[in-house]
Amino acid sequence: MSSFDQTKSIHVLGISGSLRKGSYNTAALRAAAELSPPGMTIEIFNLSPIPLFNSDLWAAGFPEPVQHFRDRIAATDALLIATPEYNYSIPGVLKNAIDWASRPPNHPLNGKPVAIMGVTTGNWGTVRAQLHLRQVCVYTNMLPLNQPEVLIARAQERFDANGRLTDETTRDFIRKLLEALTDWTLRLRQGN
Ligand SMILES: Cc1cc2nc3c(=O)[nH]c(=O)nc-3n(C[C@H](O)[C@H](O)[C@H](O)COP(=O)(O)O)c2cc1C
Repeated sequence: MSSFDQTKSIHVLGISGSLRKGSYNTAALRAAAELSPPGMTIEIFNLSPIPLFNSDLWAAGFPEPVQHFRDRIAATDALLIATPEYNYSIPGVLKNAIDWASRPPNHPLNGKPVAIMGVTTGNWGTVRAQLHLRQVCVYTNMLPLNQPEVLIARAQERFDANGRLTDETTRDFIRKLLEALTDWTLRLRQGN
């Protein structure tokens, strides 16, 4: 029998801001699922079916893929967002999904612990996109971890042709992020 304390188990919803098959950000989420500490499970959510936000659609009720997204967020203990940087910000795909999730009633992002990471082929590791994402966390009242910052630059040097993260330093950063997310989520769960 495992000696793991079940009250410390954490289910995480992994969200990639990129829809492309060969996405480095989605590959980073796959690496995270592999590197997750004992007690943590990571489910990778696919944003592809989410329509563009339109209040007219919302007036008729949340579209089914949006409702499913909101339900999955509500059912998880924490989020792990892997964002590309598009023109110094987060991709529209990610912002659109957050916009849908942020609508009342009972918006599921409220008070949700979040860990952020990002992968780019450029040199700055999504630092500008991550700052914008942190700004979005303010109004939606998501609770992002401040540190460690996981800024993955020059992705083509760190992932192999099959999309496996091979760079040990980066794998270590992701491990540390997930350990910090565990502590953060348990602290918030206990209210201290
Ligand atoms: C529309 C667009 C804008 C981009 N802007 C930036 C940028 O501002 N900074 C950056 O480092 N990379 C930028 N890139 C390059 C992305 O970092 C690169 O395409 C990355 O691989 C995307 O993530 P993915 O592999 O998960 O799809 C941009 C790419 C696209 C398609």
